[in-house]
Amino acid sequence: MVKLETRDNQFILNGEPIQIISGAIHYFRVVPEYWEDRLLKLKACGFNTVETYVPWNLHEPEEGQFNFEGFANLTRFLTIANNLGLYAIVRPSPYICAEWEFGGLPYWLLEDDNMRLRCTYEPYLEKVRNYFDVLLPMLKPYLSTNGGAIIAMQIENEYGSYGNDTNYLQEMKTIYEQHDIDVLLFTSDGPEDSMLQGGMIQGVLETVNFGSNAERAFNQLKKYQPNGPLMCMEFWNGWFDHWFEEHHERNPKEVANEFETMLQQGASVNFYMFHGGTNFGFYNGANHIENYEPTVTSYDYDAPLNEYGEPTEKYFLIRDVIQTHFGKVPEELPEQMERKAFGSVQLKQRTNLLDSLDKLSERNHSYDIKNMEKMGQDYGFILYETKIAGPRDNGKLFLQDVHDRALVYVDEKYIGTIERWSDNKYIELSIPENGVKLSILVENMGRINYGPLLKDRKGITEGVRFENQFLYDWNIYRLKMDDLSRLDFMDIKPDEASPQSTPAFYQGHITIEEPADTIIHLNGWIKGVVFVNGFNLGRYWEVGPQKSLYLPGPLLKKGENQFIIFEQHGTKNREIWLKKDS
Ligand code: GLA
Repeated sequence: MVKLETRDNQFILNGEPIQIISGAIHYFRVVPEYWEDRLLKLKACGFNTVETYVPWNLHEPEEGQFNFEGFANLTRFLTIANNLGLYAIVRPSPYICAEWEFGGLPYWLLEDDNMRLRCTYEPYLEKVRNYFDVLLPMLKPYLSTNGGAIIAMQIENEYGSYGNDTNYLQEMKTIYEQHDIDVLLFTSDGPEDSMLQGGMIQGVLETVNFGSNAERAFNQLKKYQPNGPLMCMEFWNGWFDHWFEEHHERNPKEVANEFETMLQQGASVNFYMFHGGTNFGFYNGANHIENYEPTVTSYDYDAPLNEYGEPTEKYFLIRDVIQTHFGKVPEELPEQMERKAFGSVQLKQRTNLLDSLDKLSERNHSYDIKNMEKMGQDYGFILYETKIAGPRDNGKLFLQDVHDRALVYVDEKYIGTIERWSDNKYIELSIPENGVKLSILVENMGRINYGPLLKDRKGITEGVRFENQFLYDWNIYRLKMDDLSRLDFMDIKPDEASPQSTPAFYQGHITIEEPADTIIHLNGWIKGVVFVNGFNLGRYWEVGPQKSLYLPGPLLKKGENQFIIFEQHGTKNREIWLKKDS
């Protein structure tokens, strides 16, 4: 029986001391067709273990409805790892942070107005138990103690950065044990006093997360856990990007040196990330320290294996360090997949969003404004529509509060944008004698995944006012955009000017002989979402830093391919380009 244990400040596996050299690859951020390729590249870099989180919101998208297919086929990912001779560290938690929507928690937890997350609030625990009643028995055959790849599991994630309810951690441990999870259980926290005090419990190994200053971090850990092996559960060798920021990069030599220092101390290391992948669809998370900051679609992370699955300079430097310490890595790198330029896709058809509402959603009537969660909606956009009686002199229209970005229309004409992160919270308007129709399109740009503002409800959370008067009597459309098949597209006339400030869907096709990876360039497009053959590839936004979208070959097919772009503002071009590089 293969079981990871700890003895004399070391990890022991099969009776031998082992240094775990692990890399994070999130199966849910990589097309399943490429799982094997990415894992082979991990192995060829000299790693012995793969680490992944498990996002609850992907696996239980609606309460009691489970999904373990396609991107969510975790056990298939674990089988591939096992077949390649890799061990696996699995972190269901159930909260994962990870720059993932709501830190992996399902939106429907927020239907309860009194919800208390990540503590011994019984209704929360009950939902965790129901999920774990499905997940943990499924993982049981994949534990190393049953011949599988999993050597360790994490019971919560950086809990000490959030709370100090150690009874809750105890309860998590109990749930794992009740399901006979007999592999090593651990927690991971930042190397600070408060975090270690809040995040540790007896009988569960503590590990630490950091990007630099390994010596200090491990000394802190030793202070709290004198008799455990040292492990950096998240070595942040790169970082993620928010919209409006510069792309993050970390010096590869510095990373290699830091890694070297950890190995010399006999520590085990998990590279966060080894291969970051992509936040497909609406699954990106957001941070809120001083202000709300949504994460971009790419999760490249400046990781050793980039978003396209290519080894970088960092990859080879890390491999050198591993070879110096443990001897030659026997595996060869798999051949690099070729990316292709397919030319431009002409978007020849259009349909305006405001004319298509009935094709995308049922119309719900409500006397008051309801947030997305109350409407039973997880992701995407939500549209609120009402009438304001006139005449009224110039006054202020307040959206209280917008989560996260609202485009406002009067009689279907654009009058302004209200963004959660900007100081401007109102738009001025006067109302003519006959009154007006008000439409507000709100985008959920990703629920916060870290910190005290984790409970992040979407849409308009309180109400809409004209001056101090709350407006009632709304039509609400849930625009999840998970089925665009009923849209009625019309050909765009060659001489027709592109409407600006009009949210619309654009459709085009391209014939491809041999599918391959490619990069979508959207010059002239402002902000929106790209769908390829019905698959939501994610958001684009001209503010950057991300300017192009990775389109993995398996999402294309031989023959005709359909592209739909939901552009929220307007486009100067009616084409996009499929190029080899970003
Ligand atoms: C923390 C979390 C991770 C991730 C990183 C930053 O360590 O535990 O899930 O969010 O920060 O990338």
